[in-house]
Amino acid sequence: MVKFRSRLFGTEFDPPLILASGILDQTAESIQRLIKKGMGGVVTKSIGTEPREGHPNPTIVELDTGLLNAMGLPNQGIEDFKNEMEKLESELEEEPIIGSIFASDPDDFSHLAGKMTRYGADMVELNLSCPHAEGYGAQIASDDEIMERVIKKVDERIQEPILAKLPPSNEIAKNAVLAERSGADGIVCINTVRAMAVNFETQEPILGNKIGGYSGPGIKPIGLRCVYEVYREVDIPIIGCGGITDGRDALEYILAGASALQMGSALHHRGKDAVEKVSKEATELMRKEGIDDIEEIIGGAH
Ligand code: FUM
Repeated sequence: MVKFRSRLFGTEFDPPLILASGILDQTAESIQRLIKKGMGGVVTKSIGTEPREGHPNPTIVELDTGLLNAMGLPNQGIEDFKNEMEKLESELEEEPIIGSIFASDPDDFSHLAGKMTRYGADMVELNLSCPHAEGYGAQIASDDEIMERVIKKVDERIQEPILAKLPPSNEIAKNAVLAERSGADGIVCINTVRAMAVNFETQEPILGNKIGGYSGPGIKPIGLRCVYEVYREVDIPIIGCGGITDGRDALEYILAGASALQMGSALHHRGKDAVEKVSKEATELMRKEGIDDIEEIIGGAH
């Protein structure tokens, strides 16, 4: 029996495919529907301390090789999100819930992490990588001192595993080492790639925010490079993300060094059954190649 699943931080991800933050995860109902479609775990939308509207429309552009988004971290704030977490908790059986949080300083991160775990998150993902929200995300990861303080503060606050979601910079391996040293239990790489689209006819940027984040098949080589570089430098597990659309993509990320995977844009390209399809394709490929367990091939490309 081929084992396309993984155990991280004492938790089973079966399959090792996790819903990435920001896609179809605004409500407990939409998350639950994806779990029924075979997701091995979910990351919530990134939640902040207060409600936030996000960037002006248009916020999404469809490209030939992926999606460009600049949502701007819209969310209802942690207090209101409690209801969704409670609904989720009561509806899910064993699938892990990873609460994604964003803030601009260590105290707010720590406060949010405390609340997320109190409201039922099994793990916390720190959004240190949104490429287009002033004062948040990638701007935190670009400052070593703040990033270190954020992770240390969260580590002092919660017992649950902390995942640091990093941006795809040239410094990602250095960032990952700092995250590990500061108390992160796992690294998620990568978030979307800072990018834009221009309309030839109107001669203007298309997104309301002008700059957004690029996801989908076009960024897979960047995600693979990041996972590969991070794997060489850290001892904690890596969750790979970025353009995973079929079973072969998933296994390539594992060969680069990922122990589990996140999927987002694939749900747009292949529909809500994307996870079932990717699991089936990966399992068939493993069977064909005589691989019994993904453990055998993690980091195999090194
Ligand atoms: O716009 C957004 O909400 C995106 C967040 C992210 O890329 O982390």
